[in-house]
Amino acid sequence: MTKKEKNVMIITPNSGDPECQILSNELENRGYKVNFFIPSTIKVDVGFQRNFYKQFESLEPKAALVRGFGAAATQKIFFRLDVLRALEEYDIKLINSRESLEIASDKFLTSVFLENHDIPTPKTVICEDPKKALEAFDELGGDCVLKPLYGSKGIGITRLNDKAFAENVIYALSQINQVFYLQEFVEHNNRDIRILVLGDKALTGMYRVSDSWKTNIYTGARAEPIVLTNEMKNLAINAAKITKTEIAGVDIIESKNGLTILEVNSIPGFTALQKVTDINISEEIINYFLENA
Ligand SMILES: Nc1ncnc2c1ncn2[C@@H]1O[C@H](COP(=O)(O)OP(=O)(O)O)[C@@H](O)[C@H]1O
Ligand SMILES: [Mg+2]
Repeated sequence: MTKKEKNVMIITPNSGDPECQILSNELENRGYKVNFFIPSTIKVDVGFQRNFYKQFESLEPKAALVRGFGAAATQKIFFRLDVLRALEEYDIKLINSRESLEIASDKFLTSVFLENHDIPTPKTVICEDPKKALEAFDELGGDCVLKPLYGSKGIGITRLNDKAFAENVIYALSQINQVFYLQEFVEHNNRDIRILVLGDKALTGMYRVSDSWKTNIYTGARAEPIVLTNEMKNLAINAAKITKTEIAGVDIIESKNGLTILEVNSIPGFTALQKVTDINISEEIINYFLENA
């Protein structure tokens, strides 16, 4: 008789994503059958003998590894986050939790949580009113970075260091009802640090070095090895903890005033990082998931 496989779940917008496949293979190698849960395709039914819930009954562990819920218009983002909240209501442990995704996916909330826990982060102004946004441009020293609240990979981030240009950009964005997230530009000499945190451990990290101020790998930065100091590790672990993010990719810049946190990513990529470290990242992520699920 063949041994019954255990069902495990990965939540992802795209099951074909290479990193998702690597994690899935890691689980399959350990004898799990991987079920992909794709939020944009979900049909939830209420009042049908708990049909929706029943598909999760056989999960073992009763948990899901969350690798994203997809980019979408705000209302869909809220729906997908609510679906995750519904899973938690059914006692399915999400790693990362719905709360983590809510905080870490939202640059505004991340900034507030970081400040409230005395974690160094750049001066930032968030507002709806374009006039106030333009005032903020001056308050932030006439050199700032404008970011989408829910962005990633550096997409949509613009540096504003000319007043007339800032006026144009802010006016144009006000026409499409954008919320303004403006942050002082912090000189980092085209390099920042990414640290991968798993629970209370800073697993590994890298420098990201670019030819311009935007240091996302997606925008062309190179990954370079780093020897993490205790200060770097502790800061990253703290930032992850206060944003309730168990599996976290923490972005840090080395400013003239010391280490400063830019953001915490709750769906951290690991392809570039894997190239500069001997640690097997997918194995460690799955170990963490199974131990904590
Ligand atoms: N305040 C800032 N000062 C200087 N550079 C910044 C600042 N904020 C972001 N950057 C640059 O832009 C990149 C992307 O910003 P980040 O806040 O991490 O957003 P994303 O979610 O798109 O990665 C950072 O890695 C950094 O290189
Ligand atoms: Mg980033």
